[in-house]
Amino acid sequence: MELKIGGVSVGELAEKFGTPIFVYDEKQITKNIDDLKKSITYPKFKIKYACKANTNLAVLKLVKEAGLGIDAVSTGEVFLAQKAGFKNEDILFTGDNSTEEEFQYCKDNQIALNIGSLFQLELFGKKYPGSVVMIRLNPDVGAGHHDHCITGGPESKFGIYIHKADEAKKIASQYNLKIKGIHSHIGSGILDPEVFMEAMNIILDEAKFFENLDVIDIGGGLGVPYHEGQKPLDLKLLGDKITKRMEEFNRSYGKEVTLYMEPGRYIVANAGYLLAQVVNKKSTPLYHFVGVNSGFNHLIRPMAYGSHHRIVNGSKIDSDVWEEVMVAGNLCESGDVFTKIDEKNAPYKIQNPEYGDILVIKEAGAYGFSMSSNYNSRLRPAEVMACEGKASLIRKAETFEDLLRGQII
Ligand SMILES: Cc1ncc(COP(=O)(O)O)c(C=O)c1O
Repeated sequence: MELKIGGVSVGELAEKFGTPIFVYDEKQITKNIDDLKKSITYPKFKIKYACKANTNLAVLKLVKEAGLGIDAVSTGEVFLAQKAGFKNEDILFTGDNSTEEEFQYCKDNQIALNIGSLFQLELFGKKYPGSVVMIRLNPDVGAGHHDHCITGGPESKFGIYIHKADEAKKIASQYNLKIKGIHSHIGSGILDPEVFMEAMNIILDEAKFFENLDVIDIGGGLGVPYHEGQKPLDLKLLGDKITKRMEEFNRSYGKEVTLYMEPGRYIVANAGYLLAQVVNKKSTPLYHFVGVNSGFNHLIRPMAYGSHHRIVNGSKIDSDVWEEVMVAGNLCESGDVFTKIDEKNAPYKIQNPEYGDILVIKEAGAYGFSMSSNYNSRLRPAEVMACEGKASLIRKAETFEDLLRGQII
């Protein structure tokens, strides 16, 4: 029996679009958004999808239809959000080490800016006195599934350190900037509500010293399970805690402020699958290797963070023959191995992988294609959206011509 994604079997997907491909289950994306909306009942709540997770226009359009805004970390992302039809007023730019050109792009397009350094706040203030801005604070705590994904605390490059929040106020008054919002994002892949609440409490304790805020932005970072049996984030519990804390804040602040949240991974991770075909098998004294026609240039998370991704043989999910194998990619790098446990290479049990079978790497919808590259001059794969038994191409696979783009011939 074959695995189906959005009601379409992997065999059909591979035959129609070739492999490797990313396939997204449309219904799962809308369900994730609905779950978020239902769990956080705070009335003035806005979700700004952190589109760094996945910027395919079809995904962005789905997110837009669901009524969400966008958190963009580059002007390229702002541009894509605009192309997907988002109104400028629904886009927030949370750049890091931004250039004057990026500030200018946002000003020209009336995109709200979130500034994360005193130096940059001053640069911005000098150039655009009297503007409205948000500031990103580093709450002195951080969390995440890997060191590279922790964006708070003393080791992090992000945000204005909370102890320096007063200096931000001084710069704002010097250049007549109106700070309308306080933001923080402490990291990615968080599964414990208490971790969010710790950062949120710190931010709100500081926010009360800022006058006339309209927005509190608690960032993204909501984790999803990647391991079999891993406990999911209790969204309802988190939502209740957030709502209660915001209500307390509003009472003492004397105003009902809007709450932003910027989930990326939560919206798309478990809706995406990377399909790769078995092209080789070999053994060493230690491992049985299964070679596939994809690599970390398509899904870098195992290589970059040691991330675990479940892998199944989509061509025979009901087989009761299991083999312990390492799934290796086709790049000229020994780190090009998809099978990781606790950040180390380790074999997975997969149903009888044979030449031509389609292995399905799960939870690949976030930070998959958006982190892909042409390393080894290999081509990026196609992306496909599947829904109720129908699959549509939403990005063509690259061709050799794409490798020449921009080169002076
Ligand atoms: C500023 C900001 N907001 C939101 C996110 C989204 O994080 P996640 O995909 O873990 O929800 C990120 C990701 O690092 C981020 O840098």
